[in-house]
Amino acid sequence: MPTQHGMRLRAGVVGCGGFAQAALIPAMRMAPIDLVAVCDRDLERAEACGRMLRTTAVYTSIDDLLAREQLDIVIMAIGPTVYPELAEKVMRAGVDVYVEKPPAVTVEKAHRMRDVSRETGRNLAVGFMKRFATGYRMAKELVSEPEFGKITHVTARICSGVWTPVWSNELTPFAFVLDHSVHYLDLIQFYAGPVASVTAELSQAKADRFGYAVLLRFQSGATGLLEISNYESRGVPNERIQLMGSEGRSVTVENVSRVTYTRDAVPMSQGRGFDPASDRVVWEPNMTNISPENSSLVHQGYVGEMRHLADMLLSNKPVKPDIADGIAAVQLAHSIVSSNGQRIEISR
Ligand SMILES: NC(=O)c1ccc[n+]([C@@H]2O[C@H](COP(=O)([O-])OP(=O)(O)OC[C@H]3O[C@@H](n4cnc5c(N)ncnc54)[C@H](O)[C@@H]3O)[C@@H](O)[C@H]2O)c1
Repeated sequence: MPTQHGMRLRAGVVGCGGFAQAALIPAMRMAPIDLVAVCDRDLERAEACGRMLRTTAVYTSIDDLLAREQLDIVIMAIGPTVYPELAEKVMRAGVDVYVEKPPAVTVEKAHRMRDVSRETGRNLAVGFMKRFATGYRMAKELVSEPEFGKITHVTARICSGVWTPVWSNELTPFAFVLDHSVHYLDLIQFYAGPVASVTAELSQAKADRFGYAVLLRFQSGATGLLEISNYESRGVPNERIQLMGSEGRSVTVENVSRVTYTRDAVPMSQGRGFDPASDRVVWEPNMTNISPENSSLVHQGYVGEMRHLADMLLSNKPVKPDIADGIAAVQLAHSIVSSNGQRIEISR
């Protein structure tokens, strides 16, 4: 049963595995969210999560959770094979939902989630937290300034090492793209708008090592180059995006936090000093300063997305990113994997 919204959001978490314990629940501490109940089909995990925020209501079934608790939102961290069915159940119980990325394995199931969200009038938020990461948020501000002009080109790469997504039985190029690279499939569209067409080439060194070189055309007319692979390592930082504008400016974000803003600088001449109006500037978080706002959960975006969720729902406003953004990312994942060197038009 939903509550009358107060000053803080009453949330239940379903899926108390590694990610909920490492990121979602710690991030909630910095947002106006009370974790009033936790649920995992594995009781030990549910109890471990409950202890993190001294939550006494512990469930092993989502049906019991929905029947007994008064919640504003159910936050799910399980996997895309189960989100469609469970999210529908929660929305039909009249409660808003947040699902971690990716929201579904197929575009059809993601569409169905959107239809149920519309039919029931419940929010269905999707966990693309990179939109709230400090560096990516700053980049969004910079490219939104009139002097940046329009985004004309995006160059992006997000790579990793070998690992199998928890919800997938095997490591396939599709499972990797949908689980890992999906963050950037959302982020590039967050900046440059919907992708209109895609051409991708797969390179595969062995069964579990592969990558895609992806050529993009956005509906806006902008172009993009995206590189995704597991040829690198999970132990090193390996993501970068550069957004180029129509007025000689660009913004680059490296490894989530380092932001470089390049303007149309005056060429070098004898005795030229630093020109604050046009020379390149770099921002990095001050990790030497002890402050809650300098924590990695803030800079990675987990806190920002929880705060946004609470702010929007407490003021009865729609949450972003939502299932429409989820559909766009899942659709792009399928298009990349099925392209095989052919241009795929993406219809909405
Ligand atoms: N945004 C990010 O940076 C990020 C990082 C890692 C994982 N994730 C996402 O978080 C989600 C969970 O990943 P994880 O690594 O924590 O997985 P996990 O397997 O560690 O945890 C999933 C939990 O869900 C429980 N569960 C499964 N079915 C259930 C059901 N029907 N009812 C209740 N509980 C159920 C399992 O017992 C398990 O404890 C996935 O969607 C994953 O893609 C996001």
